[in-house]
Amino acid sequence: MKITLTNAASFVPTGSLNELAARTAACNALLENGQGAGNDFLGWVHLPSSITPEFLDEVQACADGLRSRCEVVVVAGIGGSYLGARAVNEALASSFDAFQAKDRKNPYVVYAGNNIGEDYLADLMEFLQDKQFGIINISKSGTTTETALAFRLLKTMLEKQVGKTEAQKRIVAVTDRAKGALRSLATQEGYKTFVIPDNVGGRFSVLTPVGLLAIAVAGYDIRALVKGAQDMEKQTAADVAYEENPACQYAAMRNALYQYGKKIEILVNFNPRLHYFSEWWKQLYGESEGKQHKGIFPASVDFTTDLHSMGQWIQDGERSIFETVISIRQANREVRVPMDEENLDGLNFLAGKRVDEVNKMAELGTRLAHIDGGVPNILIEFDKVDEYNIGQFIYFFERGCGISGYMLGVNPFDQPGVEAYKKNMFALLNKPGYEKESAAIQARICK
Ligand code: PA5
Repeated sequence: MKITLTNAASFVPTGSLNELAARTAACNALLENGQGAGNDFLGWVHLPSSITPEFLDEVQACADGLRSRCEVVVVAGIGGSYLGARAVNEALASSFDAFQAKDRKNPYVVYAGNNIGEDYLADLMEFLQDKQFGIINISKSGTTTETALAFRLLKTMLEKQVGKTEAQKRIVAVTDRAKGALRSLATQEGYKTFVIPDNVGGRFSVLTPVGLLAIAVAGYDIRALVKGAQDMEKQTAADVAYEENPACQYAAMRNALYQYGKKIEILVNFNPRLHYFSEWWKQLYGESEGKQHKGIFPASVDFTTDLHSMGQWIQDGERSIFETVISIRQANREVRVPMDEENLDGLNFLAGKRVDEVNKMAELGTRLAHIDGGVPNILIEFDKVDEYNIGQFIYFFERGCGISGYMLGVNPFDQPGVEAYKKNMFALLNKPGYEKESAAIQARICK
C-alpha cells in the first residue's frame, strides 16, 4: 500500500504538520509500551503476529463444520461484533452473491442482531424457513440487547426445525472467556465457543474469531488475511521512521487538517464492494475519537454513485471537510466496452477500454476537481481487493486510529457514550434493576 499526502499537506502550514509528524513516534510508542490511556485494551497491537497456524486451523475446522451442515449461516452481532466480518465478506464476494443459487460452493452468510427491526427479523425468519441454517452468535459482553434478541428468536426456530441436538452442532458462540449471559448459555447448551480476548475491544476485534470465523465460513482465506495484517504490523511498528510509516503519516495529516478547521473526514471508495469497509472504518474512528466534545466526524461515500447525490456538497459546500480516497490499483474482473457501429449513445470513444480505466479517470478527475474546490485529499492506494490486501488495510487503519486518538488527547479504546441510549431504553422497557431510571424517565415524558 502507498499513502500520498501532497494534496492534503498543501492545505496546512508546513510547520504545524512537521510538529505533529514529530509527535507520532511518541504516540505510536505508547501503543507498544502500554503507557497511554486505555492500556488494558491494547491486545490488538500485536494480535496479527501472535496468531498461530494451529489457531487458524481450529477456526477453519469449525468453519468447515458449519459449511458442511448449513446452506445459510446467520452471523448475529452488532458494531465491532459484526462490521469487520461483513466488510471483508462483502469486499470479497460477487456483488450478486445473494442471488447465486445454483452450484454454490459457499453457504450464504447473512447478518442479524445489528438492529431491532421487526420487519427485518420477520423477513429473515421467513427466508430461513426452508433452509438448513446455523448461527454464529457474537457478543463480547454477552448481554447486548439487539444480538441477544435475534439469537433468542433464531435459536428457538432452529431447535424447532432440526431438534436440540442438531441445533447444538450448528450454533457457535464467540464471547468473553468467563463473563456474560452468552458465556453461561453456551456452557449450559454445550455450544462450541471461541474467546474474545479481554484486551481487544469490539471495533479492533476483526482479526480474532469475531471476524475470522464468519470470513472462513464464507469461503475466504483467513491465512492470507492474517498475513497481510502481519506485514502491516511490521510496516507501522513504533521503531519505523515517520517517512516509512504510513500509519504515522495518516495520523499526523488528519490531525493537522483537524487543527485547521477540517472537522469531517470523508472516506471515499470507487468500488461498491468496499461499502461495508467504510461502515467498519466509521465505527473504528467515530467510537475511538469522538469524546470530550472533540474528534473528526467520520463520514463516507461510494463514488461514482454518490457524486450524483453528495457531489455538489463536497465540491461546493462548507469547507470543513477533507477526503481520504481508497484507490484500488487493479480490478479483479475484466470487462471491455464494445464497439457499436451506429454509436447512437456516442460512447465509441470508450470502445475497447476496460471499464476500470473509465473508473480510474473518474477517480482522478474527481480528486482534481475536489482539490481545486478546496477539499484536502489523502490518497491511499492498495494493489487489489483480495484477502492479503484487506488484511493490510484493516491493520493500517487500526494502527492509524490508535496513534491518531493519542495525538488528539483522548482514550481511543473506551466508548462511554454508547451507554446513554441503553439506559433510557431499559428504563422505558421496565428492565429489572432500572426502577429508579424508569420513574425518572416516565416523569420526563409525561411533562
Ligand atoms: O466496539 C465496540 O465496543 C462496540 O461496537 C461493541 O462491539 C458492540 O456494542 C457490541 O458489543 P458486544 O460484543 O458486547 O455485544
